[in-house]
Amino acid sequence: MRVLGIETSCDDTAAAVYDGERGLLSHRLYSQIALHRDYGGVVPELASRDHIRKLLPLIQVVLDAAGAEQPIGGVAYTTGPGLAGALLVGAALGRSLAFAWGVPAVGVHHMEGHLLSPLLEPDPPAFPFLALLVSGGHTLLADVRAFGDYRILGESVDDAAGEAFDKTAKLLGLGYPGGPAIERAAARGQPERFTFPRPMTDRPGLDFSFSGLKTACVQAAAVRLDAQTVADIARAFQDAAVDTLAIKCERALGATGYKRLVVAGGVSANRALRARLDDLAARTAARVYYPRLEFCTDNAAMIAFAGYLRLRGDRHEGLEFNARARWRLTDLPALAGGAQ
Ligand code: KG4
Ligand code: ZN
Repeated sequence: MRVLGIETSCDDTAAAVYDGERGLLSHRLYSQIALHRDYGGVVPELASRDHIRKLLPLIQVVLDAAGAEQPIGGVAYTTGPGLAGALLVGAALGRSLAFAWGVPAVGVHHMEGHLLSPLLEPDPPAFPFLALLVSGGHTLLADVRAFGDYRILGESVDDAAGEAFDKTAKLLGLGYPGGPAIERAAARGQPERFTFPRPMTDRPGLDFSFSGLKTACVQAAAVRLDAQTVADIARAFQDAAVDTLAIKCERALGATGYKRLVVAGGVSANRALRARLDDLAARTAARVYYPRLEFCTDNAAMIAFAGYLRLRGDRHEGLEFNARARWRLTDLPALAGGAQ
């Protein structure tokens, strides 16, 4: 079956076509970064309006690129979590196209998309595995026993990792989006001019907290900020955030006994995090699986793929649709067609 995937949960408009036999056939993304940059963050109303303008032409492009030798057999769109208005654009268009084509449609959980994105790469991990999901809205460790069978082992009690990167970048005047800006500044920073805490690593458990780290940055930044000091604070922040994530991954690998770690979501694009986790894997005889860089951040390839797996599992939904601004990964409907 061929599935059209649509992603509009935040500030990227994306579409993709996934084929059950041939894999990913086409994918395109239109980023709204330029639209939101002057505001220092995503403006929900502007995001929705831009999705409305861009989505249908983008769908036409991926359908043309995929070729017409086989029709689309199903449509998958992100239902949540995310910005309600933005989600409704993808849901409305996705469901309407499915209705017009007479094919089934399914709402996909955005974080399930991220979680499964490394499975789009060659030599994908076998189940079960440990997953670290680090995005702008979520930070969690999950025990992934099978497709659709997720147990949350730990999550952030306050800010998400990506949110902490974004807030720290804003504080340092590095702009939006914050993650790549911090990574660039940190590359010029001195390693030990500042040392920030590794929150919640001194007590048992797998939860995360990033708000204390933010406070440490605020205190360090309460001086005249020259370019070198900005770089040094960015470096100390990134070192602390990366170290905290890696310490919890090592703990979770130990607790589960798993040797496979999947890392996905926007922050998984961070090279310092990848280097630190690669070290961890080498030390513990584990293996880390990442999506390719362009699929770390939001994309529709992961939505088409997750949607294909759910539609193949015979999951049918009625014509009505909704947006779920908040939606826990563990509240996903079970798979009718079995877990694998
Ligand atoms: O997965 P994603 O594109 O959207 C959400 O689902 O939230 O993640 C976006 C987050 C943002 O907070 C962004 O600053 C962060 O991922 N990010 C990074 C990097 N690239 C994106 N954080 C650290 N280093 C990066 N290179
Ligand atoms: Zn995302």
